[in-house]
Amino acid sequence: MSGPSGEWGDGTRSVRAGEDPAVPGAPLRPSPVFAAPFHLADSPPRAGGADAYARTEHPTLRVLETALGELDGGRCLSFATGMAAISAAVLAVTAAGDRVVLPSDGYYATRLLGREELDRFGLRVEYVPTTAIEALAAGGGLDGARLVLLETPSNPTLDVCDIAAVARATRAAGVLLAVDNTTATPLGQRPLALGADMTVGSDTKALTGHSDLLLGHVSTGDDAVYDRLKGWRDRTGGTPGPFEAWLGHRSMATLDLRLARQAENARAVAELLAAHPGVTGVRWPWLAGDPSAELAARQMLRPNGVVSAVLPDEAAVARLVAAGRLWAAATSFGGLHSTVDRRAQWGGDDVPAGFVRFSCGIEDTADVVADLAAGLDSALDPAHGGPALGGLR
Ligand SMILES: Cc1ncc(COP(=O)(O)O)c(C=O)c1O
Repeated sequence: MSGPSGEWGDGTRSVRAGEDPAVPGAPLRPSPVFAAPFHLADSPPRAGGADAYARTEHPTLRVLETALGELDGGRCLSFATGMAAISAAVLAVTAAGDRVVLPSDGYYATRLLGREELDRFGLRVEYVPTTAIEALAAGGGLDGARLVLLETPSNPTLDVCDIAAVARATRAAGVLLAVDNTTATPLGQRPLALGADMTVGSDTKALTGHSDLLLGHVSTGDDAVYDRLKGWRDRTGGTPGPFEAWLGHRSMATLDLRLARQAENARAVAELLAAHPGVTGVRWPWLAGDPSAELAARQMLRPNGVVSAVLPDEAAVARLVAAGRLWAAATSFGGLHSTVDRRAQWGGDDVPAGFVRFSCGIEDTADVVADLAAGLDSALDPAHGGPALGGLR
């Protein structure tokens, strides 16, 4: 672990990451510095000298990046969104003609990035399912590639792959490995310690967790990769401003507490869904019998709040949303509120019409379970307009 907070537990690290040593008279938490240009001295600005212009660096961003780097165990660069971070992770280290492997079942905008943008710039993009990448890597199928991006657990189907096994193969083949760690968060999984060259996250999700800002980041233990990423960000300009950086750092201080409640709620929700006769295909990597359970227990450090399941059809999901007082329809995940997202409505995922991603919030477990149970009964019980359950199992 890198950084001064490495020996502490998750709660302490979440609060203390990025903080300077205490100075009498200084505020307990770092304040934002709202500036685009900074006063210059009479000599030309030099790298590592005083701040000059906030697109390349600014004090509030340094605090956030120090904090995230400590949690990730590497050097961090923040970006305006998760997609800006993923684009940087791919484009900063590749050139036209390079072979790039992306998940075929991960976040759909990452696939769109490949299809609509990377292809245009002459990258040779291939898509491999999360559960197939380890065998491909072990069989020499990645030889000649420049970059592999994993997403584990994958969004939205929550499949898991063995980062360390893929990292051994990419290292041996001279291929760079990046891992989208959004669902796990840096407290839930440490891709750099497992051998990845980059860990990437949408910090819009659980990391900041209040559904009120967009952020992303890339961390790496490789100085050459860091320099490539920094140059990319300086020139393409995806730098977060001071307010986002400050709010992001403030929000991540409660990550440990939020994840703990989200996971507690997710366990109860996954068990409720698995026991319901009208629901199929329940996935939560910590649910007994889940196809990802054994690997998740070995590779991941703690559970989180994202659960997926299949309801009979679109109408059943609509009835569930209409019946719920707590479970709101919203996309994104990892926030304070419990939400339901019918993924097929976005058109990007290869999932059934009734496939739902449940994001468990931090409300009381008994309340979210009672509200969901009532919603499911009303959505799936024929007496309340649902289809007959007999045909659904
Ligand atoms: C796994 C994953 N990666 C990346 C992103 C993109 O993040 P952002 O919306 O912050 O650009 C998302 C967004 O949902 C995601 O789920």
